[in-house]
Amino acid sequence: MKDSQLLGDTPPEEFRRQLYALADWIADFRQSLDSLRVAPDDKPGAILAKLPAQPPEEGESFAKILGDVDRLIVPGTVHWSHPMFLGYFGWTTTAPGILGEIITAPLNVNAMTWRTSPAATELETLVIDWIRQWVHLPQEFGGVVYDTASVGVMHALAVAREEAAPSVRKRGLVGARAPVLRIYASEQAHSSAEKAAIALGLGEENVQRVPTDAAFRIDASALREIVARDVHDGFRPLAAIATVGTTSTASVDPVPEIARICREFKMWLHIDGAYGAGFAILPECQSMTAGWSDADSIVVNPHKSLFVPLDFSVLYVRDLERLRRVFTLVPEYLRGDTVEAQKNYMDYGIQLGRRFRALKAWIIFRSFGREGMATRLREHLRLANLFADWIGSDNRFELAAAVSMGVVCFRFIGADKNKLDRLNSEIVERINASGRAYLTQTKLRDRTVMRIGIGNVLTTEEHLRKAWDIIRETADDVGT
Ligand SMILES: Cc1ncc(COP(=O)(O)O)c(C=O)c1O
Repeated sequence: MKDSQLLGDTPPEEFRRQLYALADWIADFRQSLDSLRVAPDDKPGAILAKLPAQPPEEGESFAKILGDVDRLIVPGTVHWSHPMFLGYFGWTTTAPGILGEIITAPLNVNAMTWRTSPAATELETLVIDWIRQWVHLPQEFGGVVYDTASVGVMHALAVAREEAAPSVRKRGLVGARAPVLRIYASEQAHSSAEKAAIALGLGEENVQRVPTDAAFRIDASALREIVARDVHDGFRPLAAIATVGTTSTASVDPVPEIARICREFKMWLHIDGAYGAGFAILPECQSMTAGWSDADSIVVNPHKSLFVPLDFSVLYVRDLERLRRVFTLVPEYLRGDTVEAQKNYMDYGIQLGRRFRALKAWIIFRSFGREGMATRLREHLRLANLFADWIGSDNRFELAAAVSMGVVCFRFIGADKNKLDRLNSEIVERINASGRAYLTQTKLRDRTVMRIGIGNVLTTEEHLRKAWDIIRETADDVGT
């Protein structure tokens, strides 16, 4: 190859042809999803074994690379967008989301300061405020977009820590003679609480797990007792995490009661609404937002329930300046780029370089409108309840928790009761290995249960009926 061909970018006309080919590829892929296996049946390492270990010396054509995507990557992928993917929260992407991702790539923005990214900064502020309005948070809540809720809770707790033990930012926990700080969350809350405690040097053991009631909601009186005991034992209560839509059952903690306890013990109240908060967009779910205005912070993951492709998570803090105070730090080389700005999002977290995530959210929210989003969410609620009705009509199955949002936990009970944990797990394993559907298993009160999450705009009642047939067939196979 001539040296001149090794310089610069792909020639414009060739790039245009590649883009047309890619547009067809994406449209074909979306249309053919239904006919693909949901998950591969490869063993770990199988994909790597098919790929050359040495990096390429010479460039290869896009057609050849795209051919390998078809040959190796697509069959090696768990298709989270597949209509029969019912794992986790069943969340997915949507066509406007894909368009948003595509537009974001050539803009190639680094949304660190206003000056390096005026449109990205202002659109982020706008989209954050749209979501705030949709989920009925008061105006005093400002937000920042991170990749995930795990990162959001870590930042929230960092602010809580600084307020509880001022100067930790400057002198560290030991230098600031910080007391042993404790965080409280239900035994159903997400493990990101412990991850945050690890990252912040608070210690994972200082996340105290609180029992839940029969509906898997935090037992508020137990929370109060544990906090009071900790105070008596010399610990310093730092924060309580109330979850709106827990990972296993989508249960909703009693936020107003937790807020009262937080006030009593001067604790930070963080609401983990990673999955559930998005449902507040539905007028019939608005009662769920009781107590949210008392929170210090709340995480909402539009990539879980508001149709935005991974990743997109918003941390709201009551008075966002509290977050900025803990994380602002302007090195000399960035000073020039920060002078005239009202808002530089690099000040609101540990990341400097930041993706232009707001664009895809803006495109989806405009494409669907609140009404379109609400109608789709409502359909997911209808499907979850319909599935629960099917379970109720077959005495070999039972619901393992009340249906909440798009989540249904259920259990096969049509065999020897000593074998049920193993059989429920085996049903999920077999179905996932078959490539016909994808479910999750979890443990509730030490019993293994099956779980589906409905969140995919492509999943119809017909798909769900098919999944139910597959579950029953597989139960017949393992149970006999
Ligand atoms: C309730 C809840 N909170 C937090 C998380 C963590 O989310 P992320 O993957 O955005 O960090 C999850 C993940 O499923 C979750 O279910």
